[in-house]
Amino acid sequence: MGQTIFVPKEIDAAEPRVAASPDTVKRLAGLGFTVVVEKDAGAASRILDADFAAAGATIGKAADAAKADVILKVRRPSDAELKGYKTGALVLATMDPYGNDAAVAAMAKAGVSAFAMEFMPRITRAQSMDILSSQANLAGYQAVIDAAAEYDRALPMMMTAAGTVPAAKVFVMGAGVAGLQAIATARRLGAVVTATDVRPAAKEQVASLGAKFVAVEDEEFKAAETAGGYAKEMSKEYQAKQAALTADHIAKQDIVITTALIPGRPAPKLISAAMVAAMKAGSVIIDLAVERGGNVEGAVPGSVITTANGVKIVGHLNVQGRVAASASLLYARNLFAFLETMVDKETKTVSVNPDEELVKATLLTHGGKVIHPAFANAQQDAAVQQEPAVAQKPAAPAKAKQPRKPAARKSTAAKPKGGA
Ligand code: NAI
Repeated sequence: MGQTIFVPKEIDAAEPRVAASPDTVKRLAGLGFTVVVEKDAGAASRILDADFAAAGATIGKAADAAKADVILKVRRPSDAELKGYKTGALVLATMDPYGNDAAVAAMAKAGVSAFAMEFMPRITRAQSMDILSSQANLAGYQAVIDAAAEYDRALPMMMTAAGTVPAAKVFVMGAGVAGLQAIATARRLGAVVTATDVRPAAKEQVASLGAKFVAVEDEEFKAAETAGGYAKEMSKEYQAKQAALTADHIAKQDIVITTALIPGRPAPKLISAAMVAAMKAGSVIIDLAVERGGNVEGAVPGSVITTANGVKIVGHLNVQGRVAASASLLYARNLFAFLETMVDKETKTVSVNPDEELVKATLLTHGGKVIHPAFANAQQDAAVQQEPAVAQKPAAPAKAKQPRKPAARKSTAAKPKGGA
């Protein structure tokens, strides 16, 4: 009998996604695995147990995790879940390891090989495994849908016998995968769209989607993209220039969608309370960065608030989970695509090669240890700091406290998948 793959129901009530789909179950079964899906695992994504069963899965219970060689999850396993896993099991999930050193250590202690799917290198070969892109793309789409729902006017211009409805003005701040999809979606709904970013590459991508690019394009802007294709944290001076440029613009917008993120850092603050106060009543701001500290002053994670001047600030959490039925299908396929690279087709077993490029980038814990360089070093630093002072060395800078960046991600000439 082949190895067993287990797909649990997510224990977090705020997580409607599931890490497998009937399609991926069928593919896994085709590779020779026994697939066990926990009862109701797909219910919140509208995938029925019967659909999983028809695809070849056995419907089981949470305790079935104990026999699994591979566990496919959406969120990092809790301590209680880890207790039920077999030593040596592979766990593929969104691990959210930054600032969660204790949780990473717990996975090492449990002896599982934990893969942080969000660390997948953004290289052509791994595009099908890129959960950040598949989920951000849907979040960008859903941000516009949420904005339209909160907005009490129509988005497209409508010239009718009863008069003209003007097109809504939408401003997208941060034109990565989510932002580009937000631009494309707002354009499809007929809005007049502008966008900003600090990376010069975004300018052409924004223009190609029919939106106008608004940004401070100074020397710092020209060097704002890292080798991995991400934004750097901008200087105080740049931020001040950016705020001055965007303040007037924001005041004229009907909808602002913010998506700006910097890997391993809190989200940059792009909209101040004063800027919100200058907006018209009825305007809507969607802060997609709210889980990472937020781009908007006053955004409340998990809430929609209305300011004194009548502006709605939307801070929905897990926005991709608001389109769970789509998000789960894409997420499941990302996990399958990666797992398949670790399957020996002859022996029908998975094996982890810690030197393989994709494994190296994503593997957090293995063989009872934290092995990912971004976290293993932090744990050593922490251990050193806890050691009783042996030699009288001058105090070293507290490395562990410094934000850590993910291992460099290579970018390719491949186009972002955001703007369909
Ligand atoms: P992200 O989620 O880290 O950030 C979102 C956006 O916010 C980025 O465009 C970033 O430049 C922007 N941003 C950061 N600070 C800002 C500020 N102060 N003001 C305005 N905007 C700010 O980025 P995401 O969406 O993950 O994309 C990062 C890069 O990866 C992009 O270059 C994208 O095209 C590329 N990519 C490449 C893929 C590939 O397979 N080669 C796949 C997906 C994305």
